[in-house]
Amino acid sequence: MTATQTDWSAARYLAFEDERTRPARDLLAQVPLDGAARAVDMGCGPGNSTELLVERFGTAAVSGFDTSPDMLAKARARLPGIAFEQADLATWQPDGEPDLLFANAVLQWVPDHVAVVVRLARTLRPGGYLAVQMPDNLDEPSHAEMRAVAASDPRWAARLARAADARDAVVDPGVYYDALQAVCARVEVWVTVYHHVLEGPGAIARWFETTGLRPFLNPLSQAEQADFLAAYTDRMAQAYPAQADGRVLLRLPRLFVVARR
Ligand SMILES: C[S@@+](CC[C@H](N)C(=O)[O-])C[C@H]1O[C@@H](n2cnc3c(N)ncnc32)[C@H](O)[C@@H]1O
Repeated sequence: MTATQTDWSAARYLAFEDERTRPARDLLAQVPLDGAARAVDMGCGPGNSTELLVERFGTAAVSGFDTSPDMLAKARARLPGIAFEQADLATWQPDGEPDLLFANAVLQWVPDHVAVVVRLARTLRPGGYLAVQMPDNLDEPSHAEMRAVAASDPRWAARLARAADARDAVVDPGVYYDALQAVCARVEVWVTVYHHVLEGPGAIARWFETTGLRPFLNPLSQAEQADFLAAYTDRMAQAYPAQADGRVLLRLPRLFVVARR
């Protein structure tokens, strides 16, 4: 199946594969499991994060799921030995007790995600781990300017009035701590601020075109999408000034949670 206008685009997502996979590596590095019989990559995308689990735990232990047909097709082509299924994190339940439930850059798209992580943490075997990373960037210029461009043009302002609601805000670290501490033996929460090196303001637009901008672009016609992206790119040039070499630093705070059942 090819990507539709509203599906995620695996190929364009992977244009920034190194940068997008780095937080997944940093997250997995904080999971002190020597081995695992069942490790699940929830919201596996094109398989880049799943590949890290395979390198660590071996093919037999790992599976993945995602809602996007295009992402799943890419993941299956990349890792043919791995079981990938189409499923929604909001309702997915593991068979049996996993050793590791891994979710890199997905839970921000799941409504009421605090309740979802608590439900999933309860399914872990004793000593098993839940590992989560979410971008905490709704207050960054990259996202404030999406909302500003949406509100600025009468052609689309009404259609995009609810676009920002597609993403669940990351909440205070203490909320994750309290919710998970009730069902886990140990909970760690931290924030790392990345400064991803991108080629320029156009690259910032391309970065978010496949993620945060999707709810703003999907309701628009192709011509409107082009106009929206041009206005957004202009604002990115203002908000992210060029470094000495002409590149820009995309400041991106990310919240991490690692909990042991
Ligand atoms: C930003 S990508 C992350 C992909 C990969 N985990 C990584 O580390 O790069 C977010 C992924 O979450 C998936 N997704 C969004 N909502 C989902 C849901 N409710 N259940 C499962 N997957 C979902 C998207 O299809 C997309 O592949």
